Amino acid sequence: MTIRFDNRVAIVTGAGAGLGRAHALLLAERGAKVVVNDLGGAVDGRGGAHAAADTVVAEIKKRGGTAVANYDSVATPEGAKRIVKTATDAFGRLDIVVNNAGILRDKSFGKMDPGDFDAVMQVHLFGSYHVTQAAWPILYQQKYGRVVMTTSVAGTNGNFGQTNYGAAKMGLLGFMNCLAIEGAKNNVLVNAISPGAITRMTEALVPAARATYMKAEFVAPAVAYLCSEDCKVTATIINASSAGYSRTHYFETDGVQFDPDKPVTLEMFAEAFPAVTDLKAVEPIALGVFSTERRLKKIGKV
Ligand code: NAI
Repeated sequence: MTIRFDNRVAIVTGAGAGLGRAHALLLAERGAKVVVNDLGGAVDGRGGAHAAADTVVAEIKKRGGTAVANYDSVATPEGAKRIVKTATDAFGRLDIVVNNAGILRDKSFGKMDPGDFDAVMQVHLFGSYHVTQAAWPILYQQKYGRVVMTTSVAGTNGNFGQTNYGAAKMGLLGFMNCLAIEGAKNNVLVNAISPGAITRMTEALVPAARATYMKAEFVAPAVAYLCSEDCKVTATIINASSAGYSRTHYFETDGVQFDPDKPVTLEMFAEAFPAVTDLKAVEPIALGVFSTERRLKKIGKV
């Protein structure tokens, strides 16, 4: 089995370094024409330069691939529109969007000023929204598209000093879940990668023994798979780090169902609390399905 992207056009945001660079190189190596978007700023999002995107475009071309640079910020609707226009102007179509661009403004919550919270939300959550929104009509109307969000364990698992980042990264999963429902009937699949790799963003944070294995090249195959025609899943979160891969998913406890024709007292809830929260009996959450229906059905109320 060989997975190829011939005649496919991909946008990878924040592809001038780190993970985005690895994603762009792999997609291009397998035949995709790639828009290498990167603002070229610092880890905290300040500044900008063309060198980041230009370097990766040159690398792709040197390896025989096809790529074009774009230097816009994902964090504005105008920038996002220009990113999409770069793809359609240069290559005449668009099939794949990898929302990867990101910044960090880590601080404990008590010390975090609203500007740092906002900047992180603007790049990760709103940036992914803006680029996806600009691309959506094309993907939806041509009845083919692959969109990848980049989430993080900082959101799904929590991490000290990253309330802004964790909120943005979890926001992306809600965005993914709802968009996946809307895209499904037109073969626009929306999935997420939760990566772990040593990049300039993480190099100071990970112990050396673990860092050796955390190569961005180990994350790229998972992202490229989610971008491929072979991928049939949607709203799926894939963890990829150090050549290890898994899925993060949400489960809901079986819980407790009282008779909805009668009042529920505070004490009834308090007594039921251990059963409400008991993780021994859980159901995987299914996209667009709500457990109220299941529980009421069980007692014959609907
Ligand atoms: P990185 O700092 O090497 O790469 C991020 C790139 O995004 C940079 O080249 C930067 O210039 C670009 N960028 C930042 N703001 C932008 C904007 N407004 N518009 C366009 N480009 C912009 O960091 P890394 O590690 O490669 O991060 C990539 C993604 O993976 C981010 O979304 C990050 O949050 C996520 N991630 C990374 C993890 C890791 O272990 N490295 C862990 C979990 C998530």
